This record gives sequence, C-alpha cells and structure tokens, in this order.
Amino acid sequence: MPSGAFRRVILVGRFAVKIPRFHNALSGLRCNRWEREMWRTWRPIFGWENLCPIKFADPLGIFVVMARAAQPITFADVVAATPDYYPDITSEAKPEDFGRVGTRVFALDYGLPDADMVAQRRAYYMSRAPHAG
Ligand SMILES: Nc1ncnc2c1ncn2[C@@H]1O[C@H](COP(=O)(O)OP(=O)(O)O)[C@@H](O)[C@H]1O
Ligand SMILES: [Mg+2]
Repeated sequence: MPSGAFRRVILVGRFAVKIPRFHNALSGLRCNRWEREMWRTWRPIFGWENLCPIKFADPLGIFVVMARAAQPITFADVVAATPDYYPDITSEAKPEDFGRVGTRVFALDYGLPDADMVAQRRAYYMSRAPHAG
C-alpha cells in the first residue's frame, strides 16, 4: 500500500482512503482537511479540473476517500496534462503524486501539512475569489 510523509493510503476497489500516519497525526489531519477545503470550497470557484475527485471526507480530517488512480506516470505526462491555472492549485509537480483515472491525469496530493501554509493559501484564494454582492 502506498504511503506519503503524512498519510497512509489504502487502496480498496475503485477508492483510495487516506488516513493520517500515527507519527505525524496532526499534519496528516491537516492535509486531509485542506484537501477537503480545496475540493469543496475552492475548486468550484476557480474551476480546477485536475484535482482527483474526493468522494467523501470528514471535517476533522480522519478520512479522505478519493477515486483510485493508476500509477506510475511520468513527469512529461504531468506537464502535458496540467493546465496553466490561475490561481494555481496547491500541489507540487512530483510524478508520484499524480495518477490516471481512465484517460485523465489528476493531482492526487493537494494537502498542506502546516497551519501557516494553510492560512497563507486560504488568504491567497480568498483574495482572488470573485466578491459576492
Ligand atoms: N487517489 C489515489 N489513487 C491512488 N494512489 C494514491 C491516491 N492518492 C494517493 N495515492 C498514493 O499514495 C501516496 C501518498 O499519498 P499522498 O496524498 O501523497 O500523501 P502525503 O500527503 O502523505 O504525501 C501518493 O504518492 C500516491 O502514490
Ligand atoms: Mg505526497
């Protein structure tokens, strides 16, 4: 089963379930919560189409359930499939954090482990979001 610095990933059928690693639990929880916020709050506003879809995520960050992607893919695949979004998504262009669902390439890891990074990124997205009223 795959694993990152902050989360363990359990692949079951068509799903990938992300759970904080015991050692680094607070960072793992925060990654899960930021992924959920990216998916629910910011993706609809900015129209990003390259985030791997989240099927379920709880507000505390104990679980993120994503569509399961196939790996590996190459750096060239990532570059070719990643649109030049503004504002950009929160992710690094590491091929191990991208994968394919069907014919499409998605970012699988768009979490942030650190409270300051989350605050900074949230403020940035808020400042770019169209104002209501
Ligand atoms: N939706 C997914 N489908 C298949 N594999 C995944 C998926 N999400 C993550 N993975 C695999 O699990 C690894 C760790 O997940 P990741 O989200 O990067 O956790 P971390 O935040 O700890 O780095 C990824 O590098 C990838 O190989
Ligand atoms: Mg990762």
